Amino acid sequence: MQNTVPTIKDVARIANVSITTVSHTINGTRKVSEELRTRVYEAMDVLGYQQNSLARGLRLGETRTIGIIIPDNSNPFFADIARYIENAGFENGYSAILCNSDDLPEKELTYIQVLIEKQVDGIIFITAGKNSRSIERLQKSRIPVVIVDRHFEAASMDEVYVDNYRGAFEATKHLIALGHRRIGLVSGPSVTDTSSSRFAGYRDALSQFGIPFDETMIYAGNFRPESGRQGVRQLMKSSNLPTAIFCLNDMMAVAAINELQKMDLQVPQDVSVIGYDDVGILSELAENLTTVHQPIDQMATIASRMVIERIQNKETTFEKKVEILQPSLIIRSSTGKRRRHEINPVP
Ligand code: RIB
Repeated sequence: MQNTVPTIKDVARIANVSITTVSHTINGTRKVSEELRTRVYEAMDVLGYQQNSLARGLRLGETRTIGIIIPDNSNPFFADIARYIENAGFENGYSAILCNSDDLPEKELTYIQVLIEKQVDGIIFITAGKNSRSIERLQKSRIPVVIVDRHFEAASMDEVYVDNYRGAFEATKHLIALGHRRIGLVSGPSVTDTSSSRFAGYRDALSQFGIPFDETMIYAGNFRPESGRQGVRQLMKSSNLPTAIFCLNDMMAVAAINELQKMDLQVPQDVSVIGYDDVGILSELAENLTTVHQPIDQMATIASRMVIERIQNKETTFEKKVEILQPSLIIRSSTGKRRRHEINPVP
């Protein structure tokens, strides 16, 4: 007997119900009795029936899926925010498709095209950088998009992010209050608003306390651990050594502390170190790290709520919504008073 693919018609015949009842049962589009539901699902099991999600999507005009695009799934910040977003979507009946752009604009663009072709109902987007082609492609798709974490001006997209300028200003002020005047900075990618806003907060805090900005105290990093190591090596060669180093995320700060310890330098006795994020496994592993806490669970929940509202209430006129959340300084033992003793630059 030729193996044929079971159809919804076969399910109806075996369950002894109408095709309409099978469709309402599978799609949850109308309440059916427990007895009918059981007969339908038992018939599907016997037949090995699999619903064609694309055909369903075309028929119902929705796929009940949300696309999530993040820049680096090896970073606990993005891994955790993706998990919170996926949980919130699942609780509201949406599956998630997670895409990792690896900080590559071309890969980001490819995944945007993939999500459009899969007809996701909405997209939650953390950009790898200010890639206008990505925004243009998303706008043309007319799929509801929420920009998260990294501010990026796009008139037709809602946004939720943290006040990065304020977080960095408070972190730098904390170091200044400890007596530090030579404060090194290891940045993230300059194309990201999170790094550029934090950089501005650092620079303005120095200015407010009359500390001259010194270009030699800046290392251009990329939010990945190697930048923390290389940043320390460069800063600790300076003829006028920093007494504190501000890394613009915890991944780089943890690597920076390890590199300082390899140089037989003590944190904070010789050099204070401060990070940014305070999320996931890093906040457990780096329990001594002074850092800036980002409320990522709140950011993720708001982003999911925003995109689902846009999916379910397709308004004719779009009024952009923006929510800006507040960071908080978490003082631990990686920062201390400026050292009184001199140390030698690394060879
Ligand atoms: O750790 C990754 C960094 O990039 C975080 O600070 C987050 O804000 C993201 O933009």
